[in-house]
Amino acid sequence: MAENISKQPKIDFETLVKQRRSIRGYKPDAVSKEIIDEIIEIAKRAPSSMNTQPWHFHVITGDPLEQIRKGNTERMLAGASVDREIKMGHGYEGIHRDRQVEIAIQLFSAMEIERDDKERRQDWVMRGFRQFDAPVSIVVTLDKALEHDTVGHFDLGAATYGLVLAAWTKGLGSVINGQGIMQSSVVREFANIPEDEVIMTCVAMGYPDESFVANDVQSLRASNESVVSYVGFDE
Ligand SMILES: Cc1cc2nc3c(=O)[nH]c(=O)nc-3n(C[C@H](O)[C@H](O)[C@H](O)COP(=O)(O)O)c2cc1C
Repeated sequence: MAENISKQPKIDFETLVKQRRSIRGYKPDAVSKEIIDEIIEIAKRAPSSMNTQPWHFHVITGDPLEQIRKGNTERMLAGASVDREIKMGHGYEGIHRDRQVEIAIQLFSAMEIERDDKERRQDWVMRGFRQFDAPVSIVVTLDKALEHDTVGHFDLGAATYGLVLAAWTKGLGSVINGQGIMQSSVVREFANIPEDEVIMTCVAMGYPDESFVANDVQSLRASNESVVSYVGFDE
């Protein structure tokens, strides 16, 4: 069983990083604008190339978020092709696919969803399209001028990790998710995203439902041996 979500006012960095995990079950409790503002103040301290700070944060709750969930889900259910502004290949292969399967197995086994239980598997996917019914979604966008400048993507990744870590220190859980922006034109419409910004990702956020078992899943990481090369050390 993973450790409880910290609500301590101070938490050391290593504990924070090791405790944090993606949260996919939320209490319906509203999250104040003030707390989100504090989180964004922290996340914006992320480094960026030449301090360009090419990010924007669109914080959505209430009716507009319901409209986004509805539009995203309806279109996906109707078989619409994925309409994302951040581009991705057609599925992972090799070691990347293995790791994708690994986390899915961890989540499904926590939820006791059997391999052949199509209904519950489909229900899980639908939850993702609804951003796990979180009370808040933060849509993170990139200045369009830097759309093809991959260093800008790096900058947004740094800021987005800042969001989830800062949220955790305030007792809030979150999950960065591509599922919530599968139909980005819906997100663009209801969140009023300006034309000169590109939707890169969204972060579902809220107070974690402690009884939702998938929230306890600690994802695995490959060993240092498999991802680190040391050069020039004595041994
Ligand atoms: C760019 C990005 C997109 C993601 N999209 C989804 C998603 O659509 N649905 C989901 O359940 N999790 C999504 N995740 C969360 C990852 O599955 C999660 O970070 C990973 O399994 C590691 O687990 P952890 O965050 O609990 O450490 C996404 C994470 C990132 C960084």
